[in-house]
Amino acid sequence: MEQLFKELTFSNGVKAKNKFLLAPLTNMQSPDQGRISDDEFIWLTKRAEGGFGIIMTCAMPVLKSGIGWKGQLGIYDPKHEDGHYRLNERLHNLEALSIAQIFHAGIRADINYSGDKIGPSMNSEKSAREMSIAEIEEMKVAFVECAIRAHQCNYDGIELHAAHGYLIGQFLSKKFNKREDDYGGTFKNRAKFLIDIIEEIKEKTSSNFLIGVRISPERFGLDTNEMITLYKTLCENNNIHFIDISLWDSFKLVDDGPFIGESLLKLFTTIDRGSKLITVAGKIFSYEDIEILQNNNVDFFCLGRAAILDHQFPNRLKAEGSNFQPYSAPVTRDHLLKEGLSETFVNYMATWKNFVRDSA
Ligand SMILES: Cc1cc2nc3c(=O)[nH]c(=O)nc-3n(C[C@H](O)[C@H](O)[C@H](O)COP(=O)(O)O)c2cc1C
Repeated sequence: MEQLFKELTFSNGVKAKNKFLLAPLTNMQSPDQGRISDDEFIWLTKRAEGGFGIIMTCAMPVLKSGIGWKGQLGIYDPKHEDGHYRLNERLHNLEALSIAQIFHAGIRADINYSGDKIGPSMNSEKSAREMSIAEIEEMKVAFVECAIRAHQCNYDGIELHAAHGYLIGQFLSKKFNKREDDYGGTFKNRAKFLIDIIEEIKEKTSSNFLIGVRISPERFGLDTNEMITLYKTLCENNNIHFIDISLWDSFKLVDDGPFIGESLLKLFTTIDRGSKLITVAGKIFSYEDIEILQNNNVDFFCLGRAAILDHQFPNRLKAEGSNFQPYSAPVTRDHLLKEGLSETFVNYMATWKNFVRDSA
């Protein structure tokens, strides 16, 4: 347990005070054109007060055309900067590192807010059109500009959201990317969009700015073998510092395909990762869960729903040690309001199965 509360050092020397990362968690709390609301500020800073050493924002679009849903936090416009400065000032006072997650929803954009629906290829089911080469170049610039903006607003780093079937994931996927140019066809070509963005961000930010990538190992039109190849490529890429594997269930055995019956986690953790640190997310609810991951060579721990349930998860675990009893869902609305979620966020969580119950 002691290890969890020791510093985490990334390959560029940046240190987090412990091994707890607040997962990127979308929550609809920023309805004023993507400016950080007080609700969002409270939700995130409360997790830093509760001991999370690294705070990650929810997915933020790099262009208006990338907005995926109502009330989404933004970083694509100078009007967003003030809120991010203010957030980082508070997070740093609380000794937390801050990471901005950036993305573009691609063919999954919400046309009511994004005004457009674009992707690597035309998608009739989603009524999305194919991006031209010029638009791909502009999109790469948008990712880089948002990373620079995050840097200027004092974030300690960014995470490129290449998971869950959004634009970068759509490029990676054979199912969604049917291009025949430099950005389609072979897996190397399909990964070019991501790799180019990483390289440009590294060039345009300073060496103490963390760069991470979130990947999905399966689903979302992805091939697990190809994702292992991507993981190896990222492990060898000197421009990044961490990889965040979004497993959804860290203890899952693969239920399909060539790796059936194997631990999804071990497909990745057994690969030599060089100087990269890895974090995983998915059903980490207790100290016992974390211990299993520690024993599997995971460097730091990304908590989503456990952090929603308890802003003090790290502090309570540190203080209570083996007596620590985590909260478990479903919980009441009142519980979540006390944990610093707004009514809007609680309403959103009520759409997640078995998370919110009506009364005590
Ligand atoms: C309400 C909610 C919102 C989420 N929003 C995001 C997001 O903005 N970006 C992202 O990469 N993952 C998002 N996820 C996935 C989480 O980051 C995390 O990977 C997932 O919840 C599994 O971890 P958990 O079992 O600890 O909740 C979201 C999950 C939840 C429950």
